[in-house]
Amino acid sequence: MIGLYIAAFLVFLLLALFVFSPLRAEPRPFPENPRPEELRLELEGLKQEAKEVSGPERIRILKRIAWIERELGVARAREAERAAAPPRRFPALALVLVLLGGAALAAVLVAYTLPRLPGGLVTEARAVEELQRLKELEAKAERANTPEAWLAYADLAFELRDLERAARGYTKVIELDHKNLKAYRRYGMILFMAGQPKEAAQVLAVVTRVDPNPESLLFLGNAYFQLGEYAKAITAWQGYLQHGGEARERVQNLIATARARMNAKDPGERIYAEKCAACHGAKAEGGIGPRLARNPILNAPDAVAEIVKNGRGGMPAIPLTAEELKALLGYLRKL
Ligand code: HEC
Repeated sequence: MIGLYIAAFLVFLLLALFVFSPLRAEPRPFPENPRPEELRLELEGLKQEAKEVSGPERIRILKRIAWIERELGVARAREAERAAAPPRRFPALALVLVLLGGAALAAVLVAYTLPRLPGGLVTEARAVEELQRLKELEAKAERANTPEAWLAYADLAFELRDLERAARGYTKVIELDHKNLKAYRRYGMILFMAGQPKEAAQVLAVVTRVDPNPESLLFLGNAYFQLGEYAKAITAWQGYLQHGGEARERVQNLIATARARMNAKDPGERIYAEKCAACHGAKAEGGIGPRLARNPILNAPDAVAEIVKNGRGGMPAIPLTAEELKALLGYLRKL
């Protein structure tokens, strides 16, 4: 979308450059060299000299005079030609091109910013339309300040994956209606999507106790899984299946994965799940913290040990014995 705007703008810019290029050029080039003047002076001198000398010297001078006169003839013809040429004007064709370019740019802008009928780039047009609707709902919610209005706004923001706006909307709903379970549930889901599985699990654990909605049970399971709390994750996911969650196959696979993790013989895997997975991802693929699987830092065990022992930036220090650390590194290198 933005790429299109940029492309249209570049085309327009090129056209404009093309049109104005004659103005930038030197309108009347200077004579290529000042030679005609010099030659004329030389000619005067030579004519004078020719009168005074004789013999081969005179012949040489006469030849030179003839040559200069010929050169001057050519130069004069060139000058006359130049003088006769019409002065450079702003080309009408170029003007037409600029107008056409401008019209095309306007057409592109209109085509991509106005909502469209089905067909063509519907998804982009829809996104623009929905963003517009979101703004309207926000204005309405600000005016009415009722839980219903804020909920409508937050729901659309959530649907559009605009987590920041959704979080604000649901917070407003909770402020105005302390018992709105949907707002709590969605808020918990947003926390998880924003990379805060611990807070998400806290919120969702309370919500699911009151209202075992499949949506919140699924996310509660996800949060526990990321926290390495596999038994709790399995319970939540089983709840999801019991309460009619639709993604049955996917969740059954997740349960199988969690079971495998729980039974893992590898102490490194267990330690990883308990102490690191929450931030670096269940498979060390990265989360709040960077990716650890296939991270070159694994080739420098001392560096990892140092980071784990003392913490760094957003990572807290995590006390581990030398043995635990060794098992952990062994596990990470296998990923
Ligand atoms: C609370 C979240 C959190 C936990 C728990 C955590 N980390 Fe980190 N980790 C981070 C963050 C954030 C960074 C990035 C730190 C920085 O450079 O600012 C990081 C960085 C690292 C790095 C450096 C990676 C690189 O490419 O620079 C290593 C190695 C690492 N963590 C290993 C571990 C191990 C091993 C564990 C478990 C024993 C662990 N972390 C637990 C959040 C965490």
